Amino acid sequence: MSIISDDNDFKNTTIKHVKTDKNPVISAESGDFDKSFENTIRPKSFDTYIGQTSLKETLKITIEAAKKRNAPLDHLLFYGPPGLGKTTLAGVIAEQMGVNIKITSAPALERPRDIIGILMSLKGGEILFIDEIHRLNKIAEEILYPAMEDFYLDITTGKSQTVKTLRIELPKFTLIGATTKAGELSGPLRDRFGIIHRLEFYTPEELSQVIKRTAGILNIEITDEGAYAIAKRSRGTPRIANRLVKRVADYALVKHDGKITQEIADKSLDILKIDNFGLDNTDRNLLKLIIEKYDGGPVGIETIAAAIGEDVRTIEDVCEPFLLQAGLIQRTPRGRKVSPQAYRHLGLKNHELSEQQSLF
Ligand code: ADE
Repeated sequence: MSIISDDNDFKNTTIKHVKTDKNPVISAESGDFDKSFENTIRPKSFDTYIGQTSLKETLKITIEAAKKRNAPLDHLLFYGPPGLGKTTLAGVIAEQMGVNIKITSAPALERPRDIIGILMSLKGGEILFIDEIHRLNKIAEEILYPAMEDFYLDITTGKSQTVKTLRIELPKFTLIGATTKAGELSGPLRDRFGIIHRLEFYTPEELSQVIKRTAGILNIEITDEGAYAIAKRSRGTPRIANRLVKRVADYALVKHDGKITQEIADKSLDILKIDNFGLDNTDRNLLKLIIEKYDGGPVGIETIAAAIGEDVRTIEDVCEPFLLQAGLIQRTPRGRKVSPQAYRHLGLKNHELSEQQSLF
């Protein structure tokens, strides 16, 4: 059965994620270890959920209106890079609505009976959260359409002449879908969501607050400057920030008195080879490859993936969103290109630019 959680406090939640080889300290994808750690520190209310301010305001109003109407929430779609708190936000919404949330992910809904089973288990008003919803197969999508739109399922039994369709009414529920790739969602599925919202990268100030909150829960002493030093290297991503707090806390405990100061944070992040932009070895290898082997690009994603030994999906979903947002790479129709800022960041010379400059 694909129902993974059926209580409200996320304690037993497991979400299937595709494993990657990316450096686990800095990858924004979550592994099994992260899930139990994340469950202990997940904020449960809008007051403790930091960042995503405009989305929170929209949601508060939607929730209040739904409560006044005594109706379930419209279906919601959250998209954006991994680690920004899509699952956490779904949990906060359930908490605010006072309803249960059932959490699963598209790869766990492979057979029709997986999605049918989970839909039939829902009670009125409950929330169904489907992570990586862009990976739902066609059959699962088609089962979902009438369930989302009119709250029923058509189940077909028998073959050719004996085929029968059984219509099953479902209680009104809310689907929250999450995806790192909104563009890969089929049009009909996307159209069935009442609210579609992008989660943004966090500012270092917001991440500092996340870090201080996590440190407080884990009983880790941290200064404002220590929190900010970690925040600056966390690629705008709370999942990474929370993971780094624990690594830096280990270093602080073993090498000093356990307190995280700016100096301790900087030293331990240097040892982890996370630079002051938050880039790790994979990111730097990717940029260096484009610069040194392809003259700054453009070069195709498959070529990059093969050369640095990563899979295309990891590069597209995990590395690229931050490199694009930081202005270090650009996507062009002919492939990826690095920006002049990437040369500066790596301390490498941009031959094209130097040649142009020497002409004047
Ligand atoms: N942990 C992960 N995401 C968070 C957020 N947005 N606010 C507080 N803690 C978090």
